[in-house]
Amino acid sequence: MLRQVNLGMLGGGTVGSGVFHALQRNADLLAARIGVQVRIRKIAVKAFDEPRPYPIPRALLTTRWEEVVNDPQVDVVLELVGGTTIAKTMVLAALERGKTVVTANKALLSAAGPELFAAAARRGVNLYYEASVCGGIPIIKALREGFVINRFDALYGIVNGTCNYILTRMKQEGAEFADVLADAQKQGYAETPPDLDVDGHDARHKIGILASLAHGFWVDAGQIHTEGIREVSRLDMQFAGQLGYTIKLLGIVKRVEGRGSRVEGRGGKPRGDGERIQVSVYPALIPSGHVLADVNHVFNAVFVRGDVVGDTMFYGRGAGKDATASAVLSDVADAALDLKLGGQVRVPPFVNHARDGRIVPMDEIVSRYYVRLNVVDRPGVLARIAAIFARGRIGISSVVQPEGHEGESVPLILMLHEAPNAAMRRALAQIARLPVVRAKPVMFRVETLS
Ligand code: HSE
Repeated sequence: MLRQVNLGMLGGGTVGSGVFHALQRNADLLAARIGVQVRIRKIAVKAFDEPRPYPIPRALLTTRWEEVVNDPQVDVVLELVGGTTIAKTMVLAALERGKTVVTANKALLSAAGPELFAAAARRGVNLYYEASVCGGIPIIKALREGFVINRFDALYGIVNGTCNYILTRMKQEGAEFADVLADAQKQGYAETPPDLDVDGHDARHKIGILASLAHGFWVDAGQIHTEGIREVSRLDMQFAGQLGYTIKLLGIVKRVEGRGSRVEGRGGKPRGDGERIQVSVYPALIPSGHVLADVNHVFNAVFVRGDVVGDTMFYGRGAGKDATASAVLSDVADAALDLKLGGQVRVPPFVNHARDGRIVPMDEIVSRYYVRLNVVDRPGVLARIAAIFARGRIGISSVVQPEGHEGESVPLILMLHEAPNAAMRRALAQIARLPVVRAKPVMFRVETLS
């Protein structure tokens, strides 16, 4: 029995027209696979004549979003507007009217996830969000369904294409951040202003969503330690490369061992609560031999370690009209199946099952470090620096002083053993105050991914 599901779209720009085009191309294939014919009934747009990568027939368009949300024939509402103000009003209005909602909006979920999921639960409908993280990569589906039996020990994501593009070119061309950014903006690979991407905010939105889904409690964006890529320099790329590492902007979600990390329930079975997790975004040195180090240009990748499945890796385009449309329509297929089978038959989009999980503050996280100092080339300088690390109980694993002078000061590269971030912060503050240290110390964490 073939059913029909009608879509109402909010937004007919890049992603919206991508969804329209994908359905034009493959709606019959989708119907053959899921037994439901999916049709677009109405699309709310800002203006009829806004530029679109794929044209949409005028008959489908309206400039009044309420017409879409209030239409009793619309079964599923797609929010493809972006932003956190009008988009939130639209999503809440659609949920209140009992429509299933599909959104591609990571900023909105990050800002208002719990409120939106609560509204969906109140009305007994689903809010799907595959396209909000890593565009075409089905990472939400994988975490939610494919890995439903797993606890997530670690997840490392290259989730921002703009940053990955810039870092890739810095590495390959030996270029500086500012030069590559300016060129990327000229070519349309980076936004102007670029802050949302290069300062790590976009990655924070996405990694917060993945962390919440993976660990079953909502991770507020404010709890996520976030550093962008502005501090990465050509020199660090080069020294990291010589040491066998590549610098990538990583979103990290890791279970932290220690008190409360595994609470035993009856019969010694883990209760699944009390988890302590690290959730952060920062540029990190990763081994050049690791598969993540080969994820280049605008591509995204997510490396997931489950306690049952082991190591897995997902790779693909994190943005763009077609890749994002693919993710939106995968949610549409789930929503259509819910409607066809008369209930919520999928694994729910978000389950709040671990209310006493907590985010470990960055100061308590233990990391390894790469440090680059600019120091006066004089006997005893290294000893003074080493003494500060020793007082902070931070072990040095290697020291490199590359040949060649920059005036009277030279770079000094130190690789450091595991130490809490608080200890490292204090040691670097003391080192920065030494008169023989001529520039602000540069520090990046090292993630071995093992
Ligand atoms: N601006 C994002 C990126 C894509 O550069 O990956 C949309 O999230």
